[in-house]
Amino acid sequence: MSIAVSLRSSAWFAGREEIAFQNRAALRSMGINPDDFAGKPVIGIANSWSELNNCNGNLREIAEAVRRGVLLEGGLPLEFSTISLGEEFMKPSAMLYRNLMAMDVEETLRANPVDGVVLLCNCDKTTPAQLMAAASADLPAIQFNGGPRSTGQWRGTAIGSGTDLWKYSDELRAGRLSMAEWLEIEASYGCGTGACNTMGTASTMTSLSEAMGMMLPGTASIPATDSRRLQAATATGRRIVQLVREDLRPSRILTPAAFDNAIRTLLALGGSTNAVVHLVALAGRRGIRLPLSRFDELARTTPFLVNLMPSGRHLMDAFDAAGGVPAVMAEIRNLLDLDALTVNGRTVGDNIHRSRSFNRDVIAASEKPLSAGGSLAVLTGNLAPSGAVIKVAAASPDLMERTGRAIVFHNYEDMLARINSPDLPVTADSVLVLQNAGPKGVPGFPEWGSIPIPTKLLQSGVTDVIRISDSRMSGTAFGTVVLHVAPEAAAGGPLALVQDGDLIELNVPGRRLELLVDDAELESRRSQWQPPASRHLRGYPRLYIDHVLQADEGCDFDFLRPSTTEALEFIQPIVGRS
Ligand code: FES
Repeated sequence: MSIAVSLRSSAWFAGREEIAFQNRAALRSMGINPDDFAGKPVIGIANSWSELNNCNGNLREIAEAVRRGVLLEGGLPLEFSTISLGEEFMKPSAMLYRNLMAMDVEETLRANPVDGVVLLCNCDKTTPAQLMAAASADLPAIQFNGGPRSTGQWRGTAIGSGTDLWKYSDELRAGRLSMAEWLEIEASYGCGTGACNTMGTASTMTSLSEAMGMMLPGTASIPATDSRRLQAATATGRRIVQLVREDLRPSRILTPAAFDNAIRTLLALGGSTNAVVHLVALAGRRGIRLPLSRFDELARTTPFLVNLMPSGRHLMDAFDAAGGVPAVMAEIRNLLDLDALTVNGRTVGDNIHRSRSFNRDVIAASEKPLSAGGSLAVLTGNLAPSGAVIKVAAASPDLMERTGRAIVFHNYEDMLARINSPDLPVTADSVLVLQNAGPKGVPGFPEWGSIPIPTKLLQSGVTDVIRISDSRMSGTAFGTVVLHVAPEAAAGGPLALVQDGDLIELNVPGRRLELLVDDAELESRRSQWQPPASRHLRGYPRLYIDHVLQADEGCDFDFLRPSTTEALEFIQPIVGRS
């Protein structure tokens, strides 16, 4: 049989005859005649559908639409399931398993006769995990998401995923919402399949995948149940076959220019702080260093344009109708590298040439932004020597420059036990500090950083207070929340040394986060500090603790990030007898 030698899969189907026999017979056993696909690209469809992940529930139907496209273009589609990371069910955090999913996808690609892959994602961590795998495998790849879910309504008011949960939860605790009303909101909250309908982490990451060229333009924001999504899935299936024939690989797309474009888009979106961690990790897979300072540098000159919850008021359906990612990129075109290549084979400049915002209340003009710059800021100081992140767009302007006394929670359980106690000596000027909630500390870097406002403050009308932790925050959350403090407390970072009553200075305009305790006292505290004991002595959590990098380095595993140019090579398996 004639199969093009340039295809990777030919090593399986047209190599040594006894091996090729076995592999062709395996296709026959699935009812596929290998002669029908001789010389044609084998396209993997990496499907993260799972009933343990409600947000990815439409990916089976989408996989069928991708399959149609692959067949129409003359490829052989072979779908495979991967682990799935559902933000709602997975505890302590889906983030604990992002690197595991990246390994799952990368190793499945390595071990199998795949020439190119369509990566089906949706919920938060599934997107960066697949991109990290694709960056390492460097096989032709296109990502495609399940899309944002429909908007639920409660008594005529649209419900934003996550954002309204946090808002109404505060109302319930403050006594302004009844339990019956709370349960009514729950009934309208999860309105069908798809990702959160706010500009949370899921929509941020899929938007950035599109912005950096790994999705077809205009596809990230199409609603989950819109039939345009299935048509776009078929177009993606067609395109991946062409991509294999053109040998267009992620290494030509995921360049420093693409990452700058993604950061600019993140800032214009007012997107999730989690994207900072994921972009750093993804860049690291291609040997590209993305220091936090780069985010801050670009933030100072990138306008914040997108009026979506949690930073604004609209939801993803309005964003899509207003033009989606291409419209945002068109607004900041002067700040982008328009020559960056994308998976449709054209440049960013070509793709956004005719794009514009159709609703200025949703996607503002760059001349009339929601704010001129800085939807995110990176802070450093003696409390965060390696950096910390704050989402300025979702914080309170009057808390941007404050000095307050610390109330310290030593871990999440401690915080839960005391946060609503009437005895907690908290005032509106306090600074709430959560320790040991970082990557190694839990482990898994959960979204515990948006510490709930203490009930007694809520009851007195306080709606925000400064919160600082080595943890993350849901992309749907809001408030004056300093996150990703690095090094984390469990790794011996200065956050571990903070005590009740210490003065902490937050200065966002000056990009400073300082613990106002003298060096001698801090040295004395350090000499007494003991790392928290972990109960994880074996298994994946142990591997995670031993190998995860700190937040400013993207929380990838040290052994997954190439340390040399040679280590970028994707080593092919020996295709012999199994
Ligand atoms: Fe899955 Fe928000 S919880 S996308």
